[in-house]
Amino acid sequence: MNETLQTIKARRSVRAYTEQQVSAEDLNLILEAATYAPNGMHLETWHFTAIQNKEVLEELNDRIKGAFAKSDDPHTRERGHSRTYCCYYHAPTLVIVSNEPARWWAGMDCACALENIFLSAKSLGIGSCWINQLGQTCDDPDVRAFLTKLGVPENHKVYGCAALGYAPADAPVKEKKVKEGTVTIIR
Ligand SMILES: Cc1cc2nc3c(=O)[nH]c(=O)nc-3n(C[C@H](O)[C@H](O)[C@H](O)COP(=O)(O)O)c2cc1C
Repeated sequence: MNETLQTIKARRSVRAYTEQQVSAEDLNLILEAATYAPNGMHLETWHFTAIQNKEVLEELNDRIKGAFAKSDDPHTRERGHSRTYCCYYHAPTLVIVSNEPARWWAGMDCACALENIFLSAKSLGIGSCWINQLGQTCDDPDVRAFLTKLGVPENHKVYGCAALGYAPADAPVKEKKVKEGTVTIIR
């Protein structure tokens, strides 16, 4: 198996992180890989906002929880009131991936970029996880005000985020079982 296929098969979502920060050099490589993803008509209307500041990440999590606390759904509301809930698993880096919602494929562009982020991170020994909570909350007024302050374009919707960092050395690596019957080949 070549290195690319090995990386694809070895990647797993990481949900616990050490405090070790991703270096500027690695973050730049990962963000560059994101910008090389396929995107509809090559319009590149997306934006990548990388946060490596603990206090900023905590404030963002608090604002997301504030939005959850207003939800009609009891499970979401419970998360909003939880003192321990952290949607990004205390990862030292979070990349917000946003796009103009004007075209129906805006989310697909972001998903392609996110997969490039996850795979390039894995290739550098960095763990990652898709973090979805800003997708539901980016238009909450308190969340939006903070996103604007961070540089997320005001006309953008957040389609996903990538938590990045290092898994603890003793973290178990789960074997991945993939469902059968999801592929059809016609020759
Ligand atoms: C659209 C999408 C949204 C996701 N949202 C979250 C999330 O908010 N939090 C989380 O822990 N994992 C999230 N995940 C990760 C999936 O749970 C994970 O990819 C799946 O369980 C397969 O495991 P693996 O990534 O280890 O192969 C998301 C994945 C996708 C593609």
